Amino acid sequence: MVDQKAPERTTPALRERLSRRKPIEKLVAETNGPEAGGLRRHLGFWHLSMIGIGATMGTGIFVVLGEAVPVAGPAIILSFVLAGLTALFSALAYAEMAGMIPASGSAYSYSYATMGEFMAWVCGWCLMLTYGVSVAAIGVGWGQYINEFLYLTTGLTLPQEFLVGPMEGGVMNVPAAIVVLLAMFALLAGVRESTRVNAVMVVIKVAILVMFIAIAITAVEDGNFAPFMPMGMAGVSAAGATLFFSYIGFDSVSTASEESKNPQRDLPRAIMFSLILVTAVYCLVAFTAVGAMNWTRFSDGETTLAGILTVVTGTPVWAVVFAGGAVLALASVVLVVLYSQTRILYAMSRDRLIPGVFSKVDANGTPRANTVITSVFIAALAGLVPLGPLADATSIGTLFAFALVNVAVLVLRRTRPDLPRAFRVPGAPVTPVLGVFACAFLMFSMAGSVWIAFGAWLALGLVIYFGYGMRRSALEDDAAAEVRA
Ligand code: ALA
Repeated sequence: MVDQKAPERTTPALRERLSRRKPIEKLVAETNGPEAGGLRRHLGFWHLSMIGIGATMGTGIFVVLGEAVPVAGPAIILSFVLAGLTALFSALAYAEMAGMIPASGSAYSYSYATMGEFMAWVCGWCLMLTYGVSVAAIGVGWGQYINEFLYLTTGLTLPQEFLVGPMEGGVMNVPAAIVVLLAMFALLAGVRESTRVNAVMVVIKVAILVMFIAIAITAVEDGNFAPFMPMGMAGVSAAGATLFFSYIGFDSVSTASEESKNPQRDLPRAIMFSLILVTAVYCLVAFTAVGAMNWTRFSDGETTLAGILTVVTGTPVWAVVFAGGAVLALASVVLVVLYSQTRILYAMSRDRLIPGVFSKVDANGTPRANTVITSVFIAALAGLVPLGPLADATSIGTLFAFALVNVAVLVLRRTRPDLPRAFRVPGAPVTPVLGVFACAFLMFSMAGSVWIAFGAWLALGLVIYFGYGMRRSALEDDAAAEVRA
């Protein structure tokens, strides 16, 4: 006789698999330092703040600002405020989550604990745009400044075909690829040294931007602010979406949480401190730049901050200092953001959503193979793709991930009100809801082509998740063990 009984299920149903969550206690327990096979804890408040500022101030203010001015006119200052407010909402959400779940996976880990594995994967996949693709974009900005520096000091420039990739008629953006590989060697030499180097570069970066403000402010003319909003509100929001790129990075602080000495106390403070300092500097730079140089003169795409200094002072000396500083500064951004990307991949690999090679660390706690694979891939991207598409892809992916962090705050306030919170978003639940809307608003201000690229990226992510991650996930093993038991 045939047995009619249905076979006992050994794998959970699809819906259960997609929504399985990682318990917060487990996430926190995994962050136990090198004794437990993890990362080394040695970063304090200043280190973390330097990581935040180092990762944020970069190609956005040094290069993308000039490209965004024609879109908004002098109202570019409002675009900075709009993008800054969106970043602020998300920074608050990050501060609450990072203080509660100090895991190096950042938004990816928060989503895993709150919305389940599938959303965590989507978030982690978007973070590869935030970090990996943005490293490539910053590398391209660095290439522009090294070329400008060379020109200002020697009158020579690198051959055009080695300055741009095939999409712009060249062979490869060699400087962009090289700076990524240099950052890789710095990270392989050990993160302690790298954070020190980063701190010095942050000081240089802030100093040259303050120098810019001090010089450009002497040439500010009222007439340059009229008409203030030549492209209307549409121009302001479109430029805001582009400029959002310049605020990305404060969240890098949260990816260093497993290397932080006192994450609950220091992470929220470092995140807020970095963002406030950066916003103040950006608004002043934008004000003095469009005040000193009429916005219509930015439309050739050739006007850079260094160029403004030459026009204002009538000598290239300050421009040389500025471009030299920018070369160092942008290199530091490449370094810090690359560092963050490796840590997110580390967390995803530990959860077995991507291969184990990404979570192997050496005796010093450095994920070597992860660093090399990631860097080589990003160097190729930097060498082949232009700045515009790279920056836009970074922004849209980041806005999506930031929206998820705001949602995670809302979910955890409901599901785990008992958890100790070192920092609480003021005005919740209204503030995180506004955060989600702000991210959505900027996403919808982006061009259709950016959405198509984003859709393609998400589709690729889904194929990898259903083909690999879902079946091998660490939580899949736990679930199977439970079923067997
Ligand atoms: N915010 C970083 C930059 O502007 C990504 O370079």
